[in-house]
Amino acid sequence: MSKQIAVKGLEVSYGSVEAVKGIDLDVENGEIVTLIGANGAGKTSTLQAILGLERVKAGRVEYLGETITNQPTHRLVRRGLALVPEGRHVFPRLSVNDNLSLGAYTRSISKAELQRLKEKVFLLFPRLLERKQQMAGTLSGGEQQMLAIGRAMMLSPKVLLLDEPSMGLAPIVVKSIFQTLKRINEEEKLTILLVEQNAKMALGLAGRGYVMENGKIVLQGSTDILAHDPGVMKAYLGL
Ligand SMILES: Nc1ncnc2c1ncn2[C@@H]1O[C@H](COP(=O)(O)OP(=O)(O)OP(=O)(O)O)[C@@H](O)[C@H]1O
Ligand SMILES: [Mg+2]
Repeated sequence: MSKQIAVKGLEVSYGSVEAVKGIDLDVENGEIVTLIGANGAGKTSTLQAILGLERVKAGRVEYLGETITNQPTHRLVRRGLALVPEGRHVFPRLSVNDNLSLGAYTRSISKAELQRLKEKVFLLFPRLLERKQQMAGTLSGGEQQMLAIGRAMMLSPKVLLLDEPSMGLAPIVVKSIFQTLKRINEEEKLTILLVEQNAKMALGLAGRGYVMENGKIVLQGSTDILAHDPGVMKAYLGL
């Protein structure tokens, strides 16, 4: 397997607040890797630094073997890194259909290709097809999350970075969305880096995981092992 993303000694600070304190993290081609941790652990900061949305203070980010540290986000997006941000951020006053069209805005693609991509999204999330002309702001939380993922899929990404897709959603909705992520990973061979506070669901979906506390990786390994780690069970699984 080849490395899709490699993070080495990554540091991110906000003024005097050190949010990420020198972490190493790899994602191999075709893997689902999860980064779990409590509020304020530094998960979002890590994703944003990978994508050039926050400045990397020290360390290095590599994508497909090439250093991309602090490169402009739009360039990284064009090269195949797509983020589904925390809180979803769909365009509330635009229809589902227009949200998807905007998802592909960074790429100059034909109308036929745009249509083909949308149809793929509608196959993944049939609910979105039913609500194609509905204003995104009137969708349920789960549907908005589907739309946020669908919008990222319009970029035909090589790597999908997801920031807490389960946030605020009922367990059954989370289950359905995670099943679709699994399908995307298997059918499209899409590599996924999943940031989550919902450790139970994330460890169930991913093959490998990292546990982040106070800006540091405190534990890593196969999710089978992490899910049975006494510290993880106590702190994150409520067992
Ligand atoms: N723009 C900012 N300015 C100042 N401090 C920030 C900023 N963004 C994040 N922080 C701080 O950095 C630390 C890490 O935040 P981050 O959002 O990366 O955590 P997180 O793991 O994503 O948390 P959550 O699960 O709540 O989303 C926190 O202490 C937070 O207060
Ligand atoms: Mg966060």
